Amino acid sequence: MEYKIKHLKTSDYDQLIRLWKRAGLPYRPSGRDSVRAMAEEFSRAETCILGMYNDDRLIGSVIGTSDGRKGWINRLAIDPEYRGQGLAGILITSAENFLQGFGIQVMATLIEEENLPSISSFKKAGYIYSPGICYFSKRSSVDD
Ligand SMILES: CC(C)(COP(=O)(O)OP(=O)(O)OC[C@H]1O[C@@H](n2cnc3c(N)ncnc32)[C@H](O)[C@@H]1OP(=O)(O)O)[C@@H](O)C(=O)NCCC(=O)NCCS
Repeated sequence: MEYKIKHLKTSDYDQLIRLWKRAGLPYRPSGRDSVRAMAEEFSRAETCILGMYNDDRLIGSVIGTSDGRKGWINRLAIDPEYRGQGLAGILITSAENFLQGFGIQVMATLIEEENLPSISSFKKAGYIYSPGICYFSKRSSVDD
């Protein structure tokens, strides 16, 4: 079955958060995923926030961002009732296509090592694991 994919808008924020909750996706409601922070993301030219729909029901989402050098695939989520059909891969490809439109040639993602479904989806989408890379981050607050 083919599901429609569209660019989400600020007005879709509540529905998006409900999907993330259903999917069990960790997110930062008081930080970069707050309605205020996301409003800027929705309007950023080099960011796509895509939703996959079964009729009116939001069943999947992904955020694609560009830092100008690499594209990043973030916040990939599929409703638990729709898993195991390769829908994650379709969203990954859609975000890649959007980022390639900005000349981005390298796509990357960060995945927690125990998240085997996500690792599997990205491997199937052609992503190559880089062992030995440690993720460091520096934040303005614990909420970010
Ligand atoms: C990661 C996720 C987006 C994958 O979505 P998906 O559309 O089910 O992906 P796929 O169909 O490619 O399946 C990926 C793996 O999920 C597992 N899976 C398959 N059927 C499943 C089901 N019915 N329920 C749960 N997991 C299932 C399998 O391990 C599968 O790997 P395989 O194809 O090698 O057997 C989804 O599991 C999800 O939303 N997880 C919670 C949020 C999350 O962790 N996001 C990623 C952050 S990095």
